[in-house]
Amino acid sequence: MTTSTHFWDKIARKYAAQPIKDPTSYEHTLGRTRSYLPETGKVLELGAGTGSTALLLARSAGQITATDVSPEMMLIGRENATAQGIENVNFISAAADDGRFSDGSHDAVLAFNLLHLLRDLDGTLTRVNAALKPGGYFISKSPCLGEKGWYLPLMVAVVRVFMAVRYWRAPPFVRFMKIRDLEARIEAHGFDIVETGNFPADPPNRYIVARKR
Ligand SMILES: C[S@@+](CC[C@H](N)C(=O)[O-])C[C@H]1O[C@@H](n2cnc3c(N)ncnc32)[C@H](O)[C@@H]1O
Repeated sequence: MTTSTHFWDKIARKYAAQPIKDPTSYEHTLGRTRSYLPETGKVLELGAGTGSTALLLARSAGQITATDVSPEMMLIGRENATAQGIENVNFISAAADDGRFSDGSHDAVLAFNLLHLLRDLDGTLTRVNAALKPGGYFISKSPCLGEKGWYLPLMVAVVRVFMAVRYWRAPPFVRFMKIRDLEARIEAHGFDIVETGNFPADPPNRYIVARKR
């Protein structure tokens, strides 16, 4: 178990209780995502947190495997699925670059608010490609904090110190990505980008739909 796993386990219950920050943006990207999922399709979600998005998408897919590095997040997801009577979403504790899903059988792979937290982004993008069928969709939404000024890294550093003291855990790694760089990396891993947008716009949380070549 990594220090990052301990951090996410520790804050899981609190994270689950937080309201969605920008409901309009969330609903918009949820609807766009739904439009790409085949009704009987097989979907893999990486860094799914407590699985709230997977549960909202459950009726739009045949089977959803929600994964997250934090076992505590997955436990909350299972509790919520049971409470809502949803049976086609299963929860597996797994890192985003876990090789278990690299079987080319998925119609879509989802990663929301995750890519900026990955040290080995290229390793995960390789796994995403391997998990998808040809023509399958990789749908992600990622804060691109590299688009903001010099003050943002400073603010994030202050927040990290606060989190370390508050939760007594090392806070997770954060990548300051630029939109152009992120999209180039996704394309370099064998994808064509078919839809993009910033939801919300500031700081940009980049919604990217990419199709496996
Ligand atoms: C900011 S939360 C986003 C959760 C959810 N996708 C959402 O949009 O609300 C980031 C999640 O990524 C998970 N995570 C962090 N690093 C990870 C990794 N290397 N592999 C898989 N999950 C990871 C954390 O446990 C946490 O649940």
